[in-house]
Amino acid sequence: MTLRMENKVVLVTGAGSIGPGWGNGKASAVLYAREGATVIACDIDLGAAEETVGVIESEGGNAIALECDVRSNRQVNLIVEKVRTDFGKLDVLHNNVGIVQVGGPEDITEEEWDNLLNVNLKSIFLTSKHAIPLMLEQKNSAIVNMSSIAASHYFGYPCMSYAASKGAINQATQNIAIQYANKGLRANCIMPGLMDTPQIRHYVTSGYGGGEEDMIKKRNASCPTGKMGDAWDVAKAALFLASDDALYITGQCLVVDGGITSRIG
Ligand SMILES: NC(=O)c1ccc[n+]([C@@H]2O[C@H](COP(=O)([O-])OP(=O)(O)OC[C@H]3O[C@@H](n4cnc5c(N)ncnc54)[C@H](O)[C@@H]3O)[C@@H](O)[C@H]2O)c1
Repeated sequence: MTLRMENKVVLVTGAGSIGPGWGNGKASAVLYAREGATVIACDIDLGAAEETVGVIESEGGNAIALECDVRSNRQVNLIVEKVRTDFGKLDVLHNNVGIVQVGGPEDITEEEWDNLLNVNLKSIFLTSKHAIPLMLEQKNSAIVNMSSIAASHYFGYPCMSYAASKGAINQATQNIAIQYANKGLRANCIMPGLMDTPQIRHYVTSGYGGGEEDMIKKRNASCPTGKMGDAWDVAKAALFLASDDALYITGQCLVVDGGITSRIG
């Protein structure tokens, strides 16, 4: 049986995990490698990227870890140049990095707004800017951007900067998709719903008004399935969009939310 990512070179940003367990970026990087890809695991936290690479290598896969702050034009350019030199091509760019800021316009500072938009949105501009020329050398390449249902729906607590960044990612993805549709480059995004990842413990507990256990209980209860999804649900969607199974799919936002956005109330 052919592996779905055989001979493909995949760059994942935020390929580590912010805490113990499986984040979306880490699970996606591991799944790409299980399907035969060579993975370039980038993270601002080199140790976190190395942990992901360790998992991949322990399973017999191929990956390297690189330190990169996706807010930096210079650092993003450097990693893309390294990919060009070391691997000679880039088939898939997976923009996973994203941070969350609980709060509305009265709660957050200008610096917090700027930082979130730089991490979540400017990063996609920078990686696309530097990676697309290399990707176009393939006649078949794909970008997978990590959005959120926050792009289109209110979560139940204010997170204005996060929602704005994700809405913009959807539009940016669609725009890139159409610009490059006749050049063999596809661009899609994933809109996860409420997922149980280390990130939610780190960023959003305060949005639910109680402790971590209370937050988990409330998030599970608000899903039509009775429980949150996890990083593997996101990773499987990413694998589909990145692979040739999705060759005629571009400019789409794939909702992975267990039905939560289809329900009223
Ligand atoms: N968990 C959810 O419920 C949920 C829901 C919707 C969307 N998402 C999206 O999923 C993505 C995050 O998934 P995750 O679980 O991998 O998160 P995570 O917080 O575990 O982040 C992965 C990695 O990103 C790295 N990172 C942070 N800032 C960086 C920077 N400036 N440059 C480079 N690396 C940086 C962290 O060090 C971390 O290792 C985000 O885009 C988020 O918006 C998550």
